[in-house]
Amino acid sequence: MSQKIESHLVENRVFKPSKEFSKAARISSMAQYKRLYKESIDKPATFWAREAKELVWQKPWKKVLDWKAPFAKWFVGAKVNVCENCVDRHLDGPRRNKAAIIWEGEPGEKRTLTYQQLHREVCRFANVLEARGVKAKERVLIYMPMVPEAAIAMLACARIGAVHNVVFGGFSAESIIDRLDDSESTTVITADGGYRRGKIVPLKASVDEALKKYKKVERVFVYQRTGEKTTMKRGRDLWWHEEVASASGKHTPKGFDSEHPLFILYTSGSTGKPKGILHTSGGYLVGTYVSSKYIFDMQDDDVYWCTADVGWITGHSYITYGPLANGITQVMYEGAPNYPDFGRLWDMVEEYGVTTFYTAPTAIRAFIKAGDKFPESRDLSSLRLLGSVGEPINPEAWMWYHDKIGGGRCPIVDTWWQTETGAIMISPLPGCTPCKPGTATLPFFGVDAAILDETGQECKANEGGKLVIRKPWPSMLRTIYGDKTRYKKTYWNDYPGMYTAGDGARRDKDGNFWIVGRLDDVLNVSGHRLGTAEVESALVSHKAVAEAAVVGKPHEIKGQAVVAFLTLKEGIASSDKMKVELRNHVGKVIGAIAKPDAIHITPALPKTRSGKIMRRLLKELVATGKVSGNVTTLEDYSVIAALQKELGK
Ligand code: WT7
Repeated sequence: MSQKIESHLVENRVFKPSKEFSKAARISSMAQYKRLYKESIDKPATFWAREAKELVWQKPWKKVLDWKAPFAKWFVGAKVNVCENCVDRHLDGPRRNKAAIIWEGEPGEKRTLTYQQLHREVCRFANVLEARGVKAKERVLIYMPMVPEAAIAMLACARIGAVHNVVFGGFSAESIIDRLDDSESTTVITADGGYRRGKIVPLKASVDEALKKYKKVERVFVYQRTGEKTTMKRGRDLWWHEEVASASGKHTPKGFDSEHPLFILYTSGSTGKPKGILHTSGGYLVGTYVSSKYIFDMQDDDVYWCTADVGWITGHSYITYGPLANGITQVMYEGAPNYPDFGRLWDMVEEYGVTTFYTAPTAIRAFIKAGDKFPESRDLSSLRLLGSVGEPINPEAWMWYHDKIGGGRCPIVDTWWQTETGAIMISPLPGCTPCKPGTATLPFFGVDAAILDETGQECKANEGGKLVIRKPWPSMLRTIYGDKTRYKKTYWNDYPGMYTAGDGARRDKDGNFWIVGRLDDVLNVSGHRLGTAEVESALVSHKAVAEAAVVGKPHEIKGQAVVAFLTLKEGIASSDKMKVELRNHVGKVIGAIAKPDAIHITPALPKTRSGKIMRRLLKELVATGKVSGNVTTLEDYSVIAALQKELGK
């Protein structure tokens, strides 16, 4: 039986940036992209050294790269302070008084921090951390709502060389324990609470619960966000505002080794124990700085907004580090996108004149489901560039984003990357790359991406295979914290010296990369290996469908049968007739082989807290009627019961 992943989805729409956009962009022609790309692959040291020189190094590097697969060292011998590059670097010129962060709380408060103010706040908190005995290399767990202090805490850690370990504020006490334990953290930075969908998330209470089981934490800094009554443990808990009150706003940033650990971020992957992905200083800084600059075409008058939470890698690389290293003005929002209704984000785009907007397909599909009236009643004309990240964006969602949010004029950068890669790896450059809805298009500078078959040969055009990166890149993970064996086994075991991403993909005849889904999710129907993304996109291209998730169910003859789970758009009711129509629709778009054997219409799909559909749970549900294993990353547990009911289990 062939192990190749087949691909049937055809997309012919092509969107090129306008002449106007191209002319003003940092990279304005494909010839320029190709020239720089070639240099970045053939002479990586030349390319990366030139880019890195735009940043501040306290001591220059001796060598750009030291590569003993699978262990890389970048900017070897250099001394750097990542925080200095994100903050102090901008104080000498006109950026000093430029807004760094424009923040809105969910209840509606507004705050702006200029670079000068950000610097002062970061310095004060860095001084507090040091005064309270936090040392370089010590692990600090950060569990915060989306307030500027979340970024300030990260930057203050970076400034003193402490290693932050941010845990998403939506995770439970249980997740905090696991992450404290694995990283052996001694310090926690949290808040009394945060606002989400009109309610208070009691963050400090979760920390207290976790610290009943994990005893090695010596100090807990508590930022006062909500003013709710909070119990403070004597000798351990410290109010942020009391601590910074007398702290100096000046702090000298010390240079750390380029390979000094910057942070650990846990990622669950699809199964098993969370992996502590370790990123280091110099290479990560350069990778996020350069990718932000070119992919979001950062210009000094932009107002950039990434809607991710700092608890995810997107919030690390494209809120805290990359954009601030570029001296950009950014918007930060605390709460839910549908609070008080689905117009909230568009109100903010209008109010702050947002030019660049970066979000996830799951959010886009939720906006589509809620109806066009929300974006249509706001002035979104300040937008010039849109971005997407986290999952394959269904062509239908891409078109809606392009038309309804981008007014047909904004390029969309569909950015493929991972917690492990640290920075965007495959993406259009907005001033030159012709975009097709559904593809992340071409590799970024320095990224030697390829699709290989089981034997290690490169696949032909439109043949599906495994996505790999054949050369090291500056922002790559350095290891799984405390587990080199797992690092090697997970990422470097398929082909010698190459990084396996765990995604299935194909390249079209123009070289564009199409991600067809996680390899663990691939379907095998009568010997045909099908990626989940294509079947799902075919379903979403039907006007009634809001979201789709497709999984395989064991089948005596076919090996696997295709089972589809769908949510419908607002106001559309399910019927048997519609299910027949949807099956035929998939047959028409992809081919008979992909027609779902069963279609289940449900109010919601099981998702991780970052919005990724958990196909593993659906697969288990159709096979056994139950779910097992780690479900702590599931966003809403009640979805499972609804699905069991729909399946009659
Ligand atoms: C996985 C990584 C990257 C930050 C957020 C997620 C999927 C991500 C895309 C995209 C298709 C994508 C992949 C990848 N993914 N971006 N533009 N198109 N798939 O980080 O949680 O580490 O997840 O997300 O499957 O492997 P993560």
